[in-house]
Amino acid sequence: MLIFLDSANLDEIRKALQLFPIDGVTTNPTILSRTGEQDPAALLKEIRKTVDDGLLFAQVTSHDTDAIIDEAKKLVKLLGAQTVIKIPVTAATLEAMIKLNAKGIHICATAVYTVTQALMAAKAGAEYVAPYVSHIDGQAIDGPELAIRMQETITNYDLDTHVLGASFRTVSQVEKLMAGGVDSATVTFDMLEKLASSAGTAAEVDSFDRNWKHLYGDKSIGDFI
Ligand code: G3P
Repeated sequence: MLIFLDSANLDEIRKALQLFPIDGVTTNPTILSRTGEQDPAALLKEIRKTVDDGLLFAQVTSHDTDAIIDEAKKLVKLLGAQTVIKIPVTAATLEAMIKLNAKGIHICATAVYTVTQALMAAKAGAEYVAPYVSHIDGQAIDGPELAIRMQETITNYDLDTHVLGASFRTVSQVEKLMAGGVDSATVTFDMLEKLASSAGTAAEVDSFDRNWKHLYGDKSIGDFI
């Protein structure tokens, strides 16, 4: 299971790397623009340094094949060969995916809305296909179910591609993907906290504390060793 932080906020990234078992950071033009940073290349470079040996996903902003390939090469030169280049899936971007894959550049086909888009991108050499689960839900289609179907289809054809679930609003959405065999997800910092928390556990901890303090007061178990 691969879990990524979907953010370009350096403070959030540093905190998430310290607190949670994440495998790297994913970014896109919206996430970069939200930081207000006037030099997105410099910000990506700083994120690269912060993420250390974790994976970094960076998205192209052009739409035609030659420009996408040029940008992908520049991003890899700037951020390193392990960088995963995000490319939205359209009929016009598969050629760039095929050519970049042939050059050994790692591709994430992003903003995926259908099983056939996921399949075509996987066949074009994408190592990751990223369905926008909440946006799909917003179209009155079951987003988690569709993401699971993408994974099942890719697995059926023995394609070496991860479905990277993206755009979550609830823990339940993430849980459904994980239970359904989707092995990667990128989530916000707030969602990372929610994935690790529950009201039930908080209540149990309160109960542990109450019962402990009833007999031992403010001493910790360490005070008895
Ligand atoms: O990785 C995709 C994600 O950034 C989309 O975000 O808030 O539009 O669901 P959002």
